Amino acid sequence: MTALVVAIDGPSGTGKSTISRRIAAEFGLAYLDTGAMYRAAAWWCVREGIDLADTAAVAAQVRELPLQIGTDPREPSFAVGGEDVSVVIRSTEISTMVSAVATNLDVRAQLQDRQRAAIAAEQRPDGFSGGRGIVAEGRDITTVVAPDAQVRILLLADEAARLARRARELHGTTDSAALEATRDQVVRRDADDSTVSNFTTAADGVLTVDTSTMTLEESVDTVRGIVTRAL
Ligand code: C5P
Repeated sequence: MTALVVAIDGPSGTGKSTISRRIAAEFGLAYLDTGAMYRAAAWWCVREGIDLADTAAVAAQVRELPLQIGTDPREPSFAVGGEDVSVVIRSTEISTMVSAVATNLDVRAQLQDRQRAAIAAEQRPDGFSGGRGIVAEGRDITTVVAPDAQVRILLLADEAARLARRARELHGTTDSAALEATRDQVVRRDADDSTVSNFTTAADGVLTVDTSTMTLEESVDTVRGIVTRAL
């Protein structure tokens, strides 16, 4: 049996991470959150006092990033030099600055190589999944990192739905103050990120799933159906 690669892209607030983890766990696959890799890179540069506007210094720093990736979908984890950063990389501070690192083309090339290596490791029997395969999610997995994946999905949702989901997640409410406080993390970040990746229109052969009016369960059901048909 050949290993399965499921590539899932989309902007923030589409349910991408939750859906990807659920699908990976259900099918016994590993899970790679590539956004967390950019977040860990940003965290490490800030911790080391690097000026994020200095693109050469950032690229040189990321080249030395001692990143350990845990691909268990039930408990994904990221450590830098042995220090668990899984929680700290989700802070508002990192969310605000991560695009500055992710739009550095040298950094992208480096992290894309590491992502391809992590995906390749899951084709082998000694990988987390025992060679079953992996769900990898991000912004450029269907197009750049794993364009040959057997399953390629672009998750989309309209801006209002994405803002509301993120506001509920971060502030527990969708009142106007919460929506405004969330806007930078959704609208501005997607605008910055889309200068280097196209994650709003599906490339050839990529299936689009619009989750705007779907519950999480309906979104998982839809993606599960697509993966099942590919088996
Ligand atoms: O998915 P998440 O919101 O955690 O991603 C954090 C950031 O990482 C994104 O805002 C984007 O700047 C970057 N990213 C990327 N390419 C990917 C995944 C994430 O540029 N494949």
